[in-house]
Amino acid sequence: MKRLINRVRRLPIASQLTVLIGIVLLVLFSVILVTVQTFYTHLIQTQMELRARQIAENLANVALPALLHSDEISLYQNLARVTDQSDIVFVSVLNGDDKVFAWSAPQPYDTLLNLVNLNPTLLRQVRQADYLFEYFPTRALLEVYQPIRTNGTYWGTVLLGLNYQHIEQVARQVRWLSLTVGILLILLVIWGVQKVSESVLAPVQQLVAGTEQVSKGNFDFRLKVEREDELGFLASKFNEMIARLKSYQTRQEELTAQLHEYSEHLEEKVRLATRQLRQIQEEVLQIFHQIPIGLLVVTEGGEIRWFNDELVEVLKIKDRSRLKNANLLAEKVFLDGKFQGKLREVTRAKIESTFRIEFKLSSVSTRLLEVRTQPLLGENSQAVGMIFIIKDVTRETELERQLNRTQRLESMGKLAGGIAHDFNNILAIILPTAQMLKMRLASDAELVPMVETIEKATSKAADLTSQILSFARGSKGGKMEVFNLNDLIREFQTMIGRVVNKNIDIRAQLDENLWNVEADRTQIEQILMNLSMNAVDAMPNGGTLLYRTENLELVDAESMIPQLKPGRYVKLEVVDTGIGMSKEILDRIFDPFFTAKKKEKGTGLGLSMVYGIVRSYRGYIDVSSQPGHGSRFTIYLPATSRKIQNSNGHALQAQPGKWRILVVDDEEMLRSSLKSMLSTLKYRIFEASNGQEAVQLFQKHRHEIDVILMDIQMPVMDGLEAATRIWEEAPDFPIVFSSGYAPPAKFEELRRRGAKNFLKKPYQIKDLVDIIERTLQAS
Ligand SMILES: Nc1ncnc2c1ncn2[C@@H]1O[C@H](COP(=O)(O)OP(=O)(O)OP(=O)(O)O)[C@@H](O)[C@H]1O
Ligand SMILES: [Mg+2]
Repeated sequence: MKRLINRVRRLPIASQLTVLIGIVLLVLFSVILVTVQTFYTHLIQTQMELRARQIAENLANVALPALLHSDEISLYQNLARVTDQSDIVFVSVLNGDDKVFAWSAPQPYDTLLNLVNLNPTLLRQVRQADYLFEYFPTRALLEVYQPIRTNGTYWGTVLLGLNYQHIEQVARQVRWLSLTVGILLILLVIWGVQKVSESVLAPVQQLVAGTEQVSKGNFDFRLKVEREDELGFLASKFNEMIARLKSYQTRQEELTAQLHEYSEHLEEKVRLATRQLRQIQEEVLQIFHQIPIGLLVVTEGGEIRWFNDELVEVLKIKDRSRLKNANLLAEKVFLDGKFQGKLREVTRAKIESTFRIEFKLSSVSTRLLEVRTQPLLGENSQAVGMIFIIKDVTRETELERQLNRTQRLESMGKLAGGIAHDFNNILAIILPTAQMLKMRLASDAELVPMVETIEKATSKAADLTSQILSFARGSKGGKMEVFNLNDLIREFQTMIGRVVNKNIDIRAQLDENLWNVEADRTQIEQILMNLSMNAVDAMPNGGTLLYRTENLELVDAESMIPQLKPGRYVKLEVVDTGIGMSKEILDRIFDPFFTAKKKEKGTGLGLSMVYGIVRSYRGYIDVSSQPGHGSRFTIYLPATSRKIQNSNGHALQAQPGKWRILVVDDEEMLRSSLKSMLSTLKYRIFEASNGQEAVQLFQKHRHEIDVILMDIQMPVMDGLEAATRIWEEAPDFPIVFSSGYAPPAKFEELRRRGAKNFLKKPYQIKDLVDIIERTLQAS
């Protein structure tokens, strides 16, 4: 029902009106129809009953005498007359005992009469009533019970059956007719209403159509104004409204176009500005990351805002995510409590400051950081955080230290060199004077030993001076030779392996493609010897001694080792796992006479000499050490592109046992060690402790001796004199002169007298063999 109503509501107003009026008419008509029919039926029924009673009463009057006289014959005539009437179905007269006294019924109804049940209840009631009706609608039959009485005595009843079928037929026809007429009327009315409402509502519909057009955005639509009533007014106002809307629309379109143009312009501007801003940002960011200084920006609350790539580099942080978390940064990165505390303090105070701090990268590695702090200013120049400018100055400081040391050693070298030079000259006077004195006092048994003491002391002083000089100038004048450091190390390694304790593991990592060097082999061997002895001393409980070689090309000297010119270098490292050195010791180890060893053990000149030698080759020596972790000495020597000339290196095994050598030296230890070494090489050895002995021995065994190894500085008779005497007897006899130190004048004198072969002390056994072989080949 509800749905139906809703559907109707959606119909046009005219239809709604029609439906409404239709319904009203239908209801009205139905009521009228029912009323008319009821009234009509009632009217017919009343008339029918009236007639039936009249007939029944007439019959009762006629029947009374017949009953009284039991003369039914006379009655039959009357009954037949009655039943002649078409609608009378039957008629019957009952006596006082309710028995049929007489009856009549036309043909089709005679049987019916038998069927009529005499209703005993009605018959009982009729005795008291004026009359009674009983309807049998199924058969359209009306029965009338009319009592027959006189003076209150009941004599019987007239029973009349009346068929009212025809009346019903008429009633039905009337009903149909009125229904048809009624429906037609309704339709007519509906049609009329529809027409009328359509004509009345046409302007409204037009308005509706107009509204629809407007809603679609069509403002060119206009309503026809044909009427002058309210609808006409409405139409004209509607048109006005549309016209105004149209003008608004036009204006709005203009404005929209303008706005669009403007926004496009603005967008372009914004795009340009954004691009510029991004470019600036990228540039700034690039600069920020490329600044070779660590930058860290922290907010007031201690949170990290920014940091650059260099900071990651400086702090050696592998895991960058740590940097994002301020707590982790504090915890993990700034392991050093002092550093962390300092950073916090500065952040809290928001002050500009500069400080240096040692930063622990790990348990073994520390870096020196220079930190500059600056408040980060926000709006109103209020500090909103801190900028930390962090620079790793470890290398810088180290270089500074190295430079300082170099300068110090350089000036110390100059001083020592100067002194040693003058000292040498003095010694050059003392020594010959003492020797002359000794010759003069040859017979004085008491004074000669005293002069010899002077001689010995002077020799020692000369040795010392020579060492100082090799620190100062790297003792020039030795034989320059092209060789490969690897070969030298291999020989040295075998040698030192025999000497040192077994608990020291000696290893070598040698670069097979190592470039050659050009140097005095003996000096380089001396370097190896000094460094190795120091390393061995540093490992009293054993350890590892490692020799490493490597090629190194310095392109930009500034960045690596400022003391070295760009070029190709051979790098030699001597590494030990010994006791290491403290910073204080480390700073002074190259100083002459600096020693941390016991007095008898070290002179403190070992490293000074190494330093002097290395510098004299325009090389460089560096050292790093950690107390308890060992030391690493690194030497850089200029490489040469020249090839190794001869293979004298192998002369050691060349012709063993062939030569007989007279060794003349006042140092007994030297003689005996030489003897043992040379004997193992199958040389035969004669020994003499001074020149005099040598001359005597030579005279005795002249044909058993092939070559003489002659020390220059000796008591009793020095090498110069002994050689002179020998050459007097056997001119050009092969003699090799060796000396740790001898006054230059003496060398000059020797050369003048024909000496060609010199071997500087201390020498390597290989060099000795080498020079002996060469001397003998030349002679
Ligand atoms: N490998 C090393 N490990 C620990 N300390 C060392 C090492 N090398 C040198 N040193 C220290 O440096 C000091 C100086 O060494 P240097 O070789 O100049 O003199 P020395 O060894 O004491 O005496 P000398 O070499 O004249 O016998 C040593 O006393 C020692 O304290
Ligand atoms: Mg030493």
